[in-house]
Amino acid sequence: MSEAPPTDFDARAQHWDDAAKVRRAEQVAAAVRRAVELTPSMKALEYGAGTGLLSFALRGAIGPITLADSSAGMRAVAERKIAAANAADLRVIDLDLTRDPLPAERYDLIFSMMTLHHVADVPRLFGVFHSMLNAGGWVCLADLDSEDGSFHGPDVQVHHGFARAELRSWLAAAGFQDAAVGDCCTLEHHGRTYSVFLATARKS
Ligand SMILES: C[S@@+](CC[C@H](N)C(=O)[O-])C[C@H]1O[C@@H](n2cnc3c(N)ncnc32)[C@H](O)[C@@H]1O
Repeated sequence: MSEAPPTDFDARAQHWDDAAKVRRAEQVAAAVRRAVELTPSMKALEYGAGTGLLSFALRGAIGPITLADSSAGMRAVAERKIAAANAADLRVIDLDLTRDPLPAERYDLIFSMMTLHHVADVPRLFGVFHSMLNAGGWVCLADLDSEDGSFHGPDVQVHHGFARAELRSWLAAAGFQDAAVGDCCTLEHHGRTYSVFLATARKS
């Protein structure tokens, strides 16, 4: 049986969760906790939530979390996990901010893990995130540092990670304050090690 392409998230959803991804989510959650003072009054959105690994790692420290993803397969797995955990604080929505109108709901925290590199126009997405936050709200975005394209291979149209200075400038241009990009964790993929940053910024 041939392996599903890296961006066929519907096909990959059933087998998405594994020990390495759970550990990555825990490391990213720890970095988010270090970067931002989380409180149970915070209403949060995870963008590109997939099966919800990061939301499950952060729940309890924050208030209700909306898990947004454009893949029906990923959403179905997330729904199943939420039902199994009886997690009334988590809900799943179909949302693609590159295509959908700006949602009405506003949040105190927007976070994502390994999703930015799949979005063609990241500066525009940052502007949308800014519009979706309440005053004082935060973004916490974990993704790959600049890499040579080997993470996805030559046939996949994604960003080859990001340069930290460029991310900071995009966040500032979107209207964010206190943009910072720091080390988050590393991940092993096809026998190589890739570094992951956590970008944080605040809406004043
Ligand atoms: C590499 S996976 C990461 C999933 C999850 N955050 C994790 O780390 O386990 C990228 C996720 O982003 C979602 N995604 C990609 N483009 C998207 C978009 N434009 N809007 C919403 N979700 C998107 C995919 O469906 C997929 O679930």
